[in-house]
Amino acid sequence: MNPKPGYRRENVPLDARTIFRHSRAMAILKIARMGHPVLQEVAAKVSDPTSADTASVVRDMLETLEDSGGLGLAAPQVHISKRIVVFFVPAGRTGDGSTDSSEPLTVMINPEIEPLGSEKELDWEACLSVPDLMGSVPRFTKIKYRWTNLDGTQGERVASGFHSRAVQHECDHLDGILYPMRMDDFRLFGYSKEVRMNYNLMRLGGAKQKDVTDDEAVA
Ligand code: NI
Repeated sequence: MNPKPGYRRENVPLDARTIFRHSRAMAILKIARMGHPVLQEVAAKVSDPTSADTASVVRDMLETLEDSGGLGLAAPQVHISKRIVVFFVPAGRTGDGSTDSSEPLTVMINPEIEPLGSEKELDWEACLSVPDLMGSVPRFTKIKYRWTNLDGTQGERVASGFHSRAVQHECDHLDGILYPMRMDDFRLFGYSKEVRMNYNLMRLGGAKQKDVTDDEAVA
C-alpha cells in the first residue's frame, strides 16, 4: 500500500538476500491490475508456511516489491491466490501519530487482524494494482495483528497510524478487496498527479500539509 509520502528509495530496508542467503536467482512477477479476477478471490490459507514452495513464492514477491518501489505486496497481486504478504514501513513514512512506528521488512503468512476499538481515520492510499490513482480510505486507527513466519514461528504486533493502515490495505488483498471498495466518498478519488496538486482535496482526504509536496508510494 500506500500513500503517505516521505518514502525514499534509500530508506527501504529491503534486501531479500538477508533472508534467503543461499537462494537461486529470483524473478520479478507481473502485477495484476484492478479488473483481473485474481484480485477478487478470497486467497487460500497456506498449509505449510515452512515449505520450499512458500519460500520460493516469498522470494519472488520480495524481488517484485523491490522492483516496483512499493511498500507492500500481497500474493494475489502477483496472480498467486495464497495468504502471503510482504511489507515494511520506512522511517520517513511513519507520519502523524506518536504511536506510529517504522517496521522492518516483514513476511507474513496467514495474517489475521483484530481491530482495537471502533475508531477509524481517513487518509490517502495508492495501490500497485490500481496504478496512477489515489483515494482516501477510512481504516481502523488501531489494530492488533498476528501471522506465521517462514520458520513456522508466530508474530504479533499492535499498530496504529500509517503502520495500521498499511497492514489493513495488504490484508484486504487476501480477501479480494481493493481500497476503492472501502471508500465512501468518491470525491476523494482521482489521478495522483491531479490530486496532489489539489491542496484542498488532499487536506479533505486527511493529508497533513507536509504530505502534499512529497513523493507518493504505493502498495
Ligand atoms: Ni494494494
